[in-house]
Amino acid sequence: MRFELKERDAAGRLCRFTTKHGTVTTPNLLPVINPNKMIIPPKEMKKRFGTDILITNSYIIYKNPELKKQALESGVHALIDFDGSIMTDSGTFQNYVYGDVHLDPVEIVQFQRDIGSDIGTILDVFGTPHQTRETSEQGVNETIERARKSLPHKGEMLLACPVQGSIYPELRRKCAQELSTLSADFFPIGGVVPLMENQRYSDLVRCILSAKQGLDPSKPVHLFGAGHPLVFSLAVALGCDFFDSSAYAKYANDGRMIFQWGTEKFDDLSELPCSCPICSKYTKESLMELDEKDRTLQLALHNLYVSFMELKIIRVALTEGWLWDLVEQRASANPYLSEAVRVLHEPEHLQWLEHHEPTSKKTAVFYTGPQTIHRPIFYRYHQRLINRYTPFFQETVVFPEGTKPYSMFYSKEITDILAHKNVNLVVRSSLGPVPMELDEMYPLAQSVFPNCVDQETGEIAQQRMENFLEGSSILHWDDQMVFSSEGPLKHPIDFDTRRISAVADMQFGVGASDVLFSGDLRLVKSKQTGKIRNILCDGSHVVSMRAEDGLFTLKIDGGLRLHKRMKYPLLRVVVVDDAVPFIKEGKSLFAKFVSDCDPHLRPYDECVIVDEQDTFLGVGRTLLTRNEMLTFQHGVAVKTRDALQQG
Ligand code: GUN
Ligand code: ZN
Repeated sequence: MRFELKERDAAGRLCRFTTKHGTVTTPNLLPVINPNKMIIPPKEMKKRFGTDILITNSYIIYKNPELKKQALESGVHALIDFDGSIMTDSGTFQNYVYGDVHLDPVEIVQFQRDIGSDIGTILDVFGTPHQTRETSEQGVNETIERARKSLPHKGEMLLACPVQGSIYPELRRKCAQELSTLSADFFPIGGVVPLMENQRYSDLVRCILSAKQGLDPSKPVHLFGAGHPLVFSLAVALGCDFFDSSAYAKYANDGRMIFQWGTEKFDDLSELPCSCPICSKYTKESLMELDEKDRTLQLALHNLYVSFMELKIIRVALTEGWLWDLVEQRASANPYLSEAVRVLHEPEHLQWLEHHEPTSKKTAVFYTGPQTIHRPIFYRYHQRLINRYTPFFQETVVFPEGTKPYSMFYSKEITDILAHKNVNLVVRSSLGPVPMELDEMYPLAQSVFPNCVDQETGEIAQQRMENFLEGSSILHWDDQMVFSSEGPLKHPIDFDTRRISAVADMQFGVGASDVLFSGDLRLVKSKQTGKIRNILCDGSHVVSMRAEDGLFTLKIDGGLRLHKRMKYPLLRVVVVDDAVPFIKEGKSLFAKFVSDCDPHLRPYDECVIVDEQDTFLGVGRTLLTRNEMLTFQHGVAVKTRDALQQG
């Protein structure tokens, strides 16, 4: 198996996943194939939707003598006539629904192996939402035991071990942790079908979060039995890689059509609110004229078109950095889903999400409503404002929010004030306090909020402003304000110097600005925009400032300064000896060669690359979190920006 992270956003990831039958890009959807009645043959799925991976049920094959014989003789790929990757399920779900499954857990795993399944599934114990903690714990223990017994029999097949634990987060986390130590290949999150059926999305979110918090991050995660596109974006944002859909067929059988916002009864629709190939070919009336079997088929196809389209949208949003926007948009379509997004704002979940949240993105943060202010990126900003930002002076001038960038909008005022008085300059913005010198830093300049925000956002911003200003004497700016009576300052602090030191501390930690910028400073600005570009200290280029996000990129000399003065493991990613020569050649650092990493580093942070003796090797930009770097077997952990030249 190969599982390699390529892009990321929120706690979601876009990965390449390879089995013996090919490579697929995640997040992805596995249509469920019933080998007894394939209403859409796998080959047609491949043609219409580009399906490269699907899921079928080994138990159905196993208990049907003819299918069983054929599968054992020619393999499951021939049985359903599909040459992509095939995942098989084990009968757990049938046992949950019908309760009459008598199977030996090891035998059904051996059977899946023998029919050539790419990813088999153990016979886990389905945990239901209403069961007691004790019953649920027994199920979890039995599931873990079956995983332990099954793993030696998997052969070349990948083995999926579902995380159970009902709605008890501690059980979910424990189950996830124990299965992770067993080196299973693939982790479905099981037992969520009843939550989906009853729209218990808050519980669903808690199940996903607690499972993810215990799982080895380098393995694919599958949300078992969540086939409605309404929840895909949220589940992906929390780190789910795969979904399966039997919903497309079940809903079609029921005369129901799936849409991004929910489900509609075909009979109730006045027209078809869709332009998929099916809805383009047929009108409501012409579909009514079909016989029932054919109409069901057309509805099933529509349901799959919509489901696969949502995954395309999600992959684009994830790659472009607007996955949270999408999650919030989808949540606004359903009150239970909106409620579920609120679960993410609980402090322990925010902390976990903040760990995965990229430092910077290609696109701006779009306000969608009262949930936006709670995003991990703003949580991080306010945490860092408290922990990493030091106001320069006792007095603070507070400005109302103007247009962005604030320092441009207030440039005349800034010049006037700073010539006469040493004060802090702070903008009271819709997302809380913004020190004027941070105004170009991601996500501040890159957030789009409406002029009039909702009450909750207003109150949170107000509260954060009050906390921030505590202990400072406040001067409210108005256009009558004159400081000239105080006479010109002898040694005014230059605004650009304020900017680079505040950004350096916010980005690299307290003290970083002193380390990077002590000495004879020279700022090189863009002739076109007037923005700071390069910063030289004692004649050497230490950092550059990116125009897009107002954050620094490290140069070798900047990295050397940070390395010398910031204690291990701060800002470090550590390379094992074998890989040192590659880094010296400027090649990217692969996860399997990382032996340690500063836990404060976040995805897309600038970092210092060192060997195991903490010898400086170069500077780079991380792609993975610490935990990912230490577990992934494939793919890049750090893009090396520059390596120290020898000699
Ligand atoms: N299909 C839907 N939910 C589950 C589950 O919890 N376990 C298994 N094996 N299959 C499922
Ligand atoms: Zn359609």
